Amino acid sequence: MTQRTCGRCRQGSSAVLRIIKRIMIFNMCVRSNAMLRKTNLAVWRAWRSWKLRLQSSTVCAYSGSGPLEGCEEAEKPPHTPVMLKEVLHYLDIQQGQVVLDMTFGGGGHTKAILNTVPEVTVLALDRDPAAISLAEQLAKEHSGRVKPLLGRFSELEALLSDMSIKPGTIDAVLLDAGCSSMQMDQAERGFSLSKDGPLDMRMDGERYPNMPCAADAVNTLDQQALASILTAYGEERHARKIASAIVEARRVNPITRTQQLASVVAGVFPAAVAYRRKDRLNRPAHMATKTFQALRIFVNDELNELHTGLCAAQAALRPGGRLCVITFHSLEDRLVKRFLRGEDLSNLDHYHFSPRKQETMKGRFVDERKGGESLLWVPVRKKVITAEKEDVEENPRGRSAKLRAAVRR
Ligand SMILES: C[S@@+](CC[C@H](N)C(=O)[O-])C[C@H]1O[C@@H](n2cnc3c(N)ncnc32)[C@H](O)[C@@H]1O
Repeated sequence: MTQRTCGRCRQGSSAVLRIIKRIMIFNMCVRSNAMLRKTNLAVWRAWRSWKLRLQSSTVCAYSGSGPLEGCEEAEKPPHTPVMLKEVLHYLDIQQGQVVLDMTFGGGGHTKAILNTVPEVTVLALDRDPAAISLAEQLAKEHSGRVKPLLGRFSELEALLSDMSIKPGTIDAVLLDAGCSSMQMDQAERGFSLSKDGPLDMRMDGERYPNMPCAADAVNTLDQQALASILTAYGEERHARKIASAIVEARRVNPITRTQQLASVVAGVFPAAVAYRRKDRLNRPAHMATKTFQALRIFVNDELNELHTGLCAAQAALRPGGRLCVITFHSLEDRLVKRFLRGEDLSNLDHYHFSPRKQETMKGRFVDERKGGESLLWVPVRKKVITAEKEDVEENPRGRSAKLRAAVRR
């Protein structure tokens, strides 16, 4: 890959700046401890100085990935859906209803819905054009019952309005957050730690080629900003050391490949430590797992998108309509929990103010709740729902999945 001055990166950098700004605001909202406030302040400073530097010159070594081809192994399902039984149970879909699958992915949940309820119509949204190609295939097989929608959660309202679907008319919504195995398993998408590929990680880079990719973030953000991203989105305890190693390494050569980043991160730790690291499922984990997760969330602006998606689902559902949300890490689950409790996460701007200022502004931001309960949602189960043991044995991804289900008032 040749090093070149990149117009794309210069344009994309303003998008990175916007993302950083939103992360800071978001963190203030979701994680309100003092340490994060400090971290966010550091990102803010880094952001300002980075912006100044970018105005003079930007060199981007990354030239983008090619368009995605279909799934490598045709026989293998592109993605095994998690908590299928539970989703079907809690969505409680009836004949003739309209269901919105906000995260079509490999179509596992949609297919199960189509097979279980013959007269149902599924609106199948995904930001990834590769997923939407699969949805188009499925639409051909089930004429009129699947309507593919290419776009992000933040584009959903406009997409529904283009189809003349009025707010408050959908019967059930499913949101299965995060990435699909289809995205993770393909080296050229740059999500994978185990397969070498360009350091991309964009879910819809093909649609938005100017959007910054992971290589842009890793090669242009300053050390403090990188450390803050690793702490906030990867909950990485060694964020500073890793950020420092990245900055050192990129002085020699820009980091443009997944394996390159993985070995820079691994190089921070003595072999004995690297060997001991376990993931949430207690399996041996690569030292760069959290770094990869953090960059992926950052590049795709996943938490802000999730919040926007929940608001869009709220607007789309009819009274009595059901929502199921599956999440895979605590940041996502905390957001969903607070949203369904009716806590106001939309007026994020006031988190810009100092704690004293926030105190004087109390009452201006009214939560949509009464007596600790949401005025808009009734939980179907108070407690979070997790996958059954047998299902986890079949599909280990389900072990960290959490399902929340609620009915729209
Ligand atoms: C965990 S997978 C869904 C798997 C799917 N339920 C199945 O059974 O195959 C998540 C999917 O959501 C999509 N996605 C993630 N964030 C999105 C967003 N903000 N807008 C639209 N789609 C999104 C991803 O592209 C990915 O295909």
